[in-house]
Amino acid sequence: MIHFNPDTRTFNLILHSSVYAMQVDSKDRLVHLVWGPRPVGEEGVLSGRLRPTLSDHASFEFQTRRDELLTFGDTTTHEVTLKANFATLPDPLPDGDAPHLPIRDVRLRYVSHEIVTDAQPGLAPAHGLPTANGEPRETLRIQLADPVQPLTVTLCYRLTPAQDIIERWLELENTGDAPIEIEQLFFGALHLPNGTTELTSVSGAWAQEFQTQWERLPIGRRVIEHRSLQTGHAANPFFLLNRPGQAWEEHGTVYFGALAYSGSWQLSFEQFHSTDVRVHGGYHPADFGLTLAAGAQHKTPALVCGVCDEGWGGASRRLHAFTRERILPVAVAGVPAAPPDTHEKSGTVGRPAAADQFRPILYNSWEATYFGITEQNQIELAQKAAAIGVELFCLDDGWFGGRRFDVAGLGDWTVSPDVFPNGLEPLISEVNRLGMDFGLWVEPEMVNPDSDLYRAHPEWALHFPGRPRTEARCQLILDFGREEVVDYIFNALDSLLAQYNIAFIKWDMNRNVSEPGSVVGKAIWQAHVAGVYGIIDRLRAKYPHLTIESCSGGGARIDLGILGRTDQVWTSDNTDALDRLRIQEGFSLAYPARVMEAWVTHEKNHQTGRSHELSTRFDVAMRGALGIGASLNGLDEAELKEYASYIAFYKRIRHIVQGGDLYRLERLEEADASTILYVLPDGSEAVYSVVVHSHKLGQFRRMVPLRGLIPSATYEVLDRYQKVRLTATGYELMVQGISGDEDGRSGYGRTLHIRRLETGD
Ligand code: DGJ
Repeated sequence: MIHFNPDTRTFNLILHSSVYAMQVDSKDRLVHLVWGPRPVGEEGVLSGRLRPTLSDHASFEFQTRRDELLTFGDTTTHEVTLKANFATLPDPLPDGDAPHLPIRDVRLRYVSHEIVTDAQPGLAPAHGLPTANGEPRETLRIQLADPVQPLTVTLCYRLTPAQDIIERWLELENTGDAPIEIEQLFFGALHLPNGTTELTSVSGAWAQEFQTQWERLPIGRRVIEHRSLQTGHAANPFFLLNRPGQAWEEHGTVYFGALAYSGSWQLSFEQFHSTDVRVHGGYHPADFGLTLAAGAQHKTPALVCGVCDEGWGGASRRLHAFTRERILPVAVAGVPAAPPDTHEKSGTVGRPAAADQFRPILYNSWEATYFGITEQNQIELAQKAAAIGVELFCLDDGWFGGRRFDVAGLGDWTVSPDVFPNGLEPLISEVNRLGMDFGLWVEPEMVNPDSDLYRAHPEWALHFPGRPRTEARCQLILDFGREEVVDYIFNALDSLLAQYNIAFIKWDMNRNVSEPGSVVGKAIWQAHVAGVYGIIDRLRAKYPHLTIESCSGGGARIDLGILGRTDQVWTSDNTDALDRLRIQEGFSLAYPARVMEAWVTHEKNHQTGRSHELSTRFDVAMRGALGIGASLNGLDEAELKEYASYIAFYKRIRHIVQGGDLYRLERLEEADASTILYVLPDGSEAVYSVVVHSHKLGQFRRMVPLRGLIPSATYEVLDRYQKVRLTATGYELMVQGISGDEDGRSGYGRTLHIRRLETGD
């Protein structure tokens, strides 16, 4: 609910268990009052009477004033949300003023506000597909304007009360007749209570994404960022913040935020000597430049933020539910395929999409065949995959143009007759006959110099005239600042989708940017992201059954922007189960299990060379959207039977893993083991999963109390063979936990299905 008191000019944004308040002061500036938890179920608004004492007048610390929008100019000495250059002088020029240009001073004052229910941030999906929850939400739009310069800025706050989430974005308008240069632009600024300085974020690299890091913010500035055309491996655009020692996994006040944007980004955390904390998030200031032409507008994407009193777990659950309900697109019914004859009917074939939005079990042939694909070996893999219960078969890299290895062919999106002499039709027909959907790998933003596309259009690659073009994985990046390039890629993908029964695309992107020279200049940073989003939106609008996986050398394009137009993400190229445990734990801080594609691959892992038992590999992969990446052609009948048994088990628990609330009962940092629980919101079913990461030989593991169950209900705990291992009340499980035979051996794991009994409560 949004409440405005016209007498005190105070705004209250009231969410389920939190409140955000601001006020227009006597000088018409919009100032922040407070943001924090509030008593649940209590009515009440903040009057604006109580205000922090701020040193607005102190000559050495002007900027403790909490403007909702911090602008360069006025008394700025700290980080700002917006910096603009005005190229024209006021007319008449006041006496004594020299005609210096540009004028770099923005002072915004309150003009008006409105509450609407149809507002969208910049780069919101345009594919027209619904989200699981389409209930309208209130957005507060507060218009501020510079009294002298022709710049209007509208601050937008869209409320999702159930998850205590506010999406913040800015809308800029040049109301004059000369261009305005915007030099720095974040999507919003957050003022946190003094001392909120314990930061949780993730860092990483290729094959080591999402490594959790905790730190105490210094006095000064700390940034997390990535400067490329995708979200990046090195960091991910989300954070959790709390007072040191005052929040834990399930307790304490935690602030959280994430960017709905997949390009060059920055989150900046600033702590003053006063211990005031500010956060800015949005476009990376490096090489940023936005020209706002006369009369033009610019709308930023959203900074998604929230606060809760239930620890890091409560913050994660809010982000997960928000993503499942409000971000992920809901594809329409699956493509028609022949009825399955080799396995139990389930999954995507002919399903009513709204009734089944859980991710199908994927087989991806990359690690099985790499670039050695043939029609025959893919058909053999597909037959084995279908027999063990796979629902979606994805053909990876190497099927097109001259792509016999990773040195050529990108850009030539036609089926290679060398590999598929009869096109993809025989493979797809067989996949469909087996009852599976068919998926195809693409890397649309790239071009190999050794390709017909590059030979025809070398000018289409990003470059600076007369300067070298640095290749990475033998490839260059296409200039999505050119409309003709975006159209070429859309048309190439469109022809494939029109010709073949393709239900799924794995959209890959395998390098960071270099030499970002484009026909649109510095605007390429935003234009590239808009180009990618635009192609996906057009494809999804035209093929509403299509689902998409976002991949960038593993997990380098995962954020709330891309999730608005994709269905799942490739979490990491590292499929080693124990490495994955840590990667998945970091991932789970912000993103839901529903989208976290996780494959079971070979016993001896191709990335790390370590061997893990099949049970460990499944126990870890079943924590997300289960996929298989092992070479099934190399497995014997007994092993395939084991795979089938695990997959059948996963199908029984998939709705809980992909739709339940996550509780991280034991984290790797504290226990050298990871124990998690997914619980359906009504407490009727749960999945308990424990995996030991490091040896604790000779030690029996402690019982860990469960959460989220109904204390008075009786539950049975089943293993993968549906054997009841124990029966207990919710009370017992939540006070004591599950005892077991865990012996502290590295890689030991168990996955159990907990089900409420209908009687005996
Ligand atoms: C990187 C991806 O992460 C892999 O899964 C695979 O698709 C390769 N690219 C193919 O080149």
